[in-house]
Formats: sequence, C-alpha cells, structure tokens
Amino acid sequence: MANLVLYRKYRPQTFAEITGQEHVVQTIKNAISLGAISHAYIFSGPRGSGKTTIARLLAKAANCRERKPRNFEPCNKCSSCLEIMGTRSLDFIEIDAASHRGIDEIRELRDGVKFAPVKEKYKVFVIDECHQLTKEAANALLKTLEEPPNHAIFILATTEIHKMISTIISRCQRFDFRKLNLAEITSRLEFISDRENSRFEKSALELIALNSGGSIRDAESLLDQVLAFAGDLGKDREIKIKDIKELLGIADVEIIGKFVDLLREKNAAGALKLLQDIFEKGYDPQEFSKALIRYLRQVLILKISMDSVNPILIGLAKEDQEKMKAQVEKFSQKEIQTALNLFLDVENKTKYSSIPQLPLELATVDFINPKE
Ligand SMILES: Nc1ncnc2c1ncn2[C@@H]1O[C@H](COP(=O)(O)OP(=O)(O)O)[C@@H](O)[C@H]1O
Ligand SMILES: [Mg+2]
Ligand SMILES: [Zn+2]
Repeated sequence: MANLVLYRKYRPQTFAEITGQEHVVQTIKNAISLGAISHAYIFSGPRGSGKTTIARLLAKAANCRERKPRNFEPCNKCSSCLEIMGTRSLDFIEIDAASHRGIDEIRELRDGVKFAPVKEKYKVFVIDECHQLTKEAANALLKTLEEPPNHAIFILATTEIHKMISTIISRCQRFDFRKLNLAEITSRLEFISDRENSRFEKSALELIALNSGGSIRDAESLLDQVLAFAGDLGKDREIKIKDIKELLGIADVEIIGKFVDLLREKNAAGALKLLQDIFEKGYDPQEFSKALIRYLRQVLILKISMDSVNPILIGLAKEDQEKMKAQVEKFSQKEIQTALNLFLDVENKTKYSSIPQLPLELATVDFINPKE
C-alpha cells in the first residue's frame, strides 16, 4: 500500500465515504436498496469529482454476494467485491473511450453484452470519456442501449456531455456531478492527512484545496507532492501555509502583489528595481510573467464581481485575497485591462528575447508612461 499514490490509495470503497455529490449518491443508494437499478446511466461532470469511483461502487453493490436486502453498501469482502476492486472481474468491463474510440471496440462490446455474466448477477460496462467515441461507434452503442439484456448495466462517464449525441443521453438515467467546494475538499484532505499521520496547519490544507480547481483528485495529488517534500523537513514538523506556498510556487504572490502596487503608483524606478532584484536572485522572467498574468486576471475578476467571487476560482489564501481586495479598489477596470494586455504579450516575447527580462521591463515602462 505504501507506494500507492494517494488518490488511488484513498478511493472510497463505500458510499458513506464519498464527499459531496449528495443528490447522486442518495438516488443511487435508493435504487440499490430497492432493487431498482437501471440498465443505463450517464455520469457527467468535471474530472476528479467521483464518477469512476461511484461507477465502481454501483457495480460492486449490484453484484455483492453478501449485501443484505434493503442495504446499499457493498461488503468489500466477498469474491465479487474483491475482484472488482482488483480490476480482475470478468463481469466488470471498463473501457477508456479516449484510447478505444472506434467501431470495432463497440462491436466487440455489443457481442460481449449478449452473453450472460460469467459468475455474477450483472455484467457492468463502464465507458469512460464516452464523448470521444467516433460517430459510428456512438451509433453502434446506441443500438445496444436500445435493447439492453436484463443482465447488463451500462455506465457512461463524460467530462463533456455537450459532445454526446442526444439519443444516447435520452436512453440513460443522467447524473450531473459537480465540482467540490472548498470545505468539502479541505475535509477530505484532513481525513487523509490524519490517516497518513502528518500534521498540517488548517489554513495550509485550505490552500491546497484552493489550488485544486474543485477536483478532489488534483487536491490529493498536490497533497502527495507536499508530503514528499515534507519528508525532507523531518517527520514530526507541522506543515505550515508558508511551506505550501513555497512548494506550489505561490510565494510569488507577495512579490507580485508588491510589483502590482508599484505599477499602480506609477513608480517606474521602483518597479524596475524590484524586477532587477528578483532576477538577480534567480527568478525566471517567463515564470514571473506567467504568475503576473494569473495575478492580474484574478484582480480583474475581483474588480468585476467583488461579492460573487468563488474562492476556488481565485486559488488564493484568505489573507492574500484580503490584500488583493484592498488593491483592487485603487485600480480602475480599464487600468487592469491595459496591464493584462501589455503583459500578455510579454510572455511570448520573453522566449525570443536575447535579454530575457527586457520585454518585462519594456511593458512596465509602457504601462507607467503610456505612449502618446
Ligand atoms: N466525491 C469524492 N469523494 C471522495 N473522494 C473523491 C471524490 N471524487 C474523487 N475522489 C478522489 O479522487 C480520485 C479520482 O476520482 P474519480 O472517481 O476517478 O474521478 P472522475 O470523476 O475523474 O472519474 C478517487 O480515487 C478519490 O481518491
Ligand atoms: Mg474517471
Ligand atoms: Zn461483496
């Protein structure tokens, strides 16, 4: 177990362990306990939100040999559960449509569907990234979905439901998964870091959650990196928000905040000096430009919708958000847009410039002293 990446090691093995997605979980639990499982489902939603996890739970619960009537949790001990968990069940077929897009694969699947399950009650087919099937393959799949045998359960998963043909969608019971919010992701990270016996400042875990884009999988991968890095710090040390910033390269936020202040104050000398100082310290101008653009974009979002900003979108710790808010008030929207346009060009120019920081310096001067 020790070498497993966290997101595999902590794939929930019961419905109780799923974070969020309450509407999906509740409906599926009811269907299982009532013995009213559909033959075709479509799970749509962002990556890392639990689609594959819930598909496997559904498959396990449907075939579990020890599940009591009116219960919905799989036992995770019987041969059927264990085979699905070890992905060696002959009656649980996962197809990745991103790499198996064609008609041949779907024909093969269609032929396979006709045969009764080898050992279990149901044959469960999970087709991941289903929107990537070719048109022909999608039509062949539709035929199968029109008259599925009683022993078959199809679960189609997709991150891009708008690319699926509507005739397939209408054959399936549809569930829309959503991005997880900050509190949900943070609590999942707390659970895992506890199990891993590592100590975190609460705001440190929050910062990881903030940088996950609403995907638990991505949050868990970040946590993996942090733990690997913390191993070098010494086992018992509490991991602080400062450590996370350093690791994720968010340390820039403070420097960039200062730089943006100088821009706003039209302090050309100060801004150029700051650039010079940090490049002497070994900062990469291209990385700095990227981080600056990200920062200015967040400033723009905050400017336009001060109240309705989603912290996940912003990806900043609370204290940094507060600082940014104060900064935003002193900026006009026009100024922010001008700065974004100027620095957007820099990113490309830096690649080709023989003096890598020159495009940044020029844009700085241009912003502070606009051309006539
Ligand atoms: N809702 C969730 N609750 C708990 N863990 C989750 C959830 N969604 C994703 N995860 C974590 O992320 C990993 C990948 O999730 P997965 O179900 O494969 O996402 P996808 O929606 O991309 O299929 C899981 O193994 C688990 O560790
Ligand atoms: Mg998946
Ligand atoms: Zn079982």
